[in-house]
Amino acid sequence: MNKCDTCGGCSQTKKKNLEGDKVTIDLLMDILENNNMSMKNHANHVGIMSKWLAQYLGIDSNLCNTIELAGRLHDIGMMKISPSLFNKTDALSALDWKELKKHSEYGFEILNQYPELNEAAQIVLEHHERFDGTGYPSGLLGNEIHLGARIIALCETIDHMSTDKPYKNAVSFKSIEEEIRQKSGTQFDPWLVMHIKELMIVWQETLVCE
Ligand SMILES: [Fe+2]
Ligand SMILES: [Fe+2]
Repeated sequence: MNKCDTCGGCSQTKKKNLEGDKVTIDLLMDILENNNMSMKNHANHVGIMSKWLAQYLGIDSNLCNTIELAGRLHDIGMMKISPSLFNKTDALSALDWKELKKHSEYGFEILNQYPELNEAAQIVLEHHERFDGTGYPSGLLGNEIHLGARIIALCETIDHMSTDKPYKNAVSFKSIEEEIRQKSGTQFDPWLVMHIKELMIVWQETLVCE
């Protein structure tokens, strides 16, 4: 923890200053890439599509940019999770899952050190909350969850489902759309799910041919 500039000794956390958001994001993305290239692709996809959906919904451009940023950095907290968890070949234990789920809070801690990233940090903290209140870490309900976090939750699920993984094959876009609709009001915000068809069309046009 950085000590206070004024006295150099008290426990007050010093807020870090940055020359600009871009420097930070590039730095954090490089760290992500070094950790895991597929994680960087996931981060970029979620950032791009979250911004598209936010703009489509007519959200203020500053908030759209913050949502894009939070989308790109939503899993940055994974940096603090032991690599042994990712390399595990056995099924994850309850303790492993408990540790993995801490990545939202770790991500918040990393980003919230920078005043420019405070709102993005809040969105990152809430990206695994669920509309029906059964998500983590706080069990927030409905509109208590930051709109950016609700958008990212939807986009990151689509990206997971549409990508081949060592343990599962990608799911068709039609099946993804059906599953998202089934989870409207439970996992996902129904207002966002109303626009799933448009989102899936743009998703295919934007990301499939990259
Ligand atoms: Fe996550
Ligand atoms: Fe993710």
